[in-house]
Amino acid sequence: MENVKINSLEIENVKRIKAVKLEPSQSGLTIIGGNNNQGKTSVLDSIAWALGGNNFRPANATREGSVIPPNIHITLSNGLVVERKGKNSDLKVTDPTGGKAGQTLLNSFIEQLALDLPKFMNASDKEKADTLLRIIGVGEELYKLEDEEKRLYNERLVVGRVADQKDKFAKEQEFYEDAPSELVSASELIKKQQEILAKNGENQRKRDKVDLITSQQTIKAGKIAQIESQIATLTTALEEERAAKAELDKDLVIAQTDALSLVDESTEELERNIEQIEEINRKVRANLDKAKAEDDAKEEKSKYDALSAKIEEVRNAKTKLLENANLPLQGLSVDDGVLMYKGQPWENMSGSEQLIVSTAIVRKLNPQCGFVLMDKLEQMDMDTLKDFGNWLNNEGLQAIATRVSKGDECSIIIEDGYVVEQPSVSEAQAPSTNWKAGEF
Ligand SMILES: Nc1ncnc2c1ncn2[C@@H]1O[C@H](COP(=O)(O)OP(=O)(O)O)[C@@H](O)[C@H]1O
Ligand SMILES: [Mg+2]
Repeated sequence: MENVKINSLEIENVKRIKAVKLEPSQSGLTIIGGNNNQGKTSVLDSIAWALGGNNFRPANATREGSVIPPNIHITLSNGLVVERKGKNSDLKVTDPTGGKAGQTLLNSFIEQLALDLPKFMNASDKEKADTLLRIIGVGEELYKLEDEEKRLYNERLVVGRVADQKDKFAKEQEFYEDAPSELVSASELIKKQQEILAKNGENQRKRDKVDLITSQQTIKAGKIAQIESQIATLTTALEEERAAKAELDKDLVIAQTDALSLVDESTEELERNIEQIEEINRKVRANLDKAKAEDDAKEEKSKYDALSAKIEEVRNAKTKLLENANLPLQGLSVDDGVLMYKGQPWENMSGSEQLIVSTAIVRKLNPQCGFVLMDKLEQMDMDTLKDFGNWLNNEGLQAIATRVSKGDECSIIIEDGYVVEQPSVSEAQAPSTNWKAGEF
């Protein structure tokens, strides 16, 4: 179903208005211009009152000095005629077949915020975000993802601090190039020393044996000398002694050869090592500590990286959730409960962006409502107005706005409660045609 627009309106004796007639453009901006206090806003107030119900009734609705009660007559694009007239300004809604209807029917296609855009624009960041989330229906899911993101972020913050500390600690640890990679054992060194001493003892015993045999030989030699004097009688004994001596000679040669090849191994280095063992082990421990600290730091860093990946995942899920949602406007999102457009919060958006964002959101609240009222557009420069007008045209939306100006951008000028006749306006019949759709 086509959304509903305002085809024409006639107002008499409401607030500052004496008599105003207007046929707004079907899409784009229709600007009501004029100086201050001439009745521009009174036009918007009249439309809101006619279409929005008694909540929108102005405090002092009847124009002071008028003996005739207010009279509002609005024709809508769906064929309905909405009127307020008579002593009590009663609402009268007539459908194209002449049948009667009322506020309930109007409420079905009229969005209250479209009649009161400042109410949306002045709402808090959170209220704006909630309105958007309500429209696209992903609020709960998004807030869950944001909670998860916050939790992971805080966890990563802690891990990151620990990782930095551990890394710093690892870097501060001493390192000794000359230390062995493993701890030195004192008992092993002592065992080695004992082995060498035992071997050396054995060698000593062999040397002692040489000495022993040598002294025995000397005795034998003495005996030989004795016995030689008794040679005759002692030949047999001599032979025996000679044989014994020959045997000993042989032993001596063997023992001497044995002894010749003996080399004592030095225990000096071991002794030095034993002396230095404390120092070496201190260095080995320091190196082991440093390696451990480096491992710790690495582990913490990899935890941090894993959390970063998770946070990225949650953020992607959030983006996807909003991407897949039926957004009223490309570039809208909700970040941490705040409405964002093109990555910027409300206060950073340009004036036209704020208008586009509000209009797009308000429009989606009730897609059947094809128009929106806007007061005080004088803060917009011409380029901003043009941008906004183009966007409205593309969206097929109608905006009726006021602006303190008498420039060409205005569709009508109001002065002292009347529409001022403008040459271009009277030429073209429809007041809005000098303000071509698409131009603004
Ligand atoms: N019921 C009324 N009768 C006559 N004048 C009114 C009434 N209500 C408000 N005004 C006057 O209308 C002027 C504001 O009208 P408004 O439509 O807001 O003007 P504009 O938007 O062009 O500045 C003020 O001067 C105010 O005193
Ligand atoms: Mg005003």
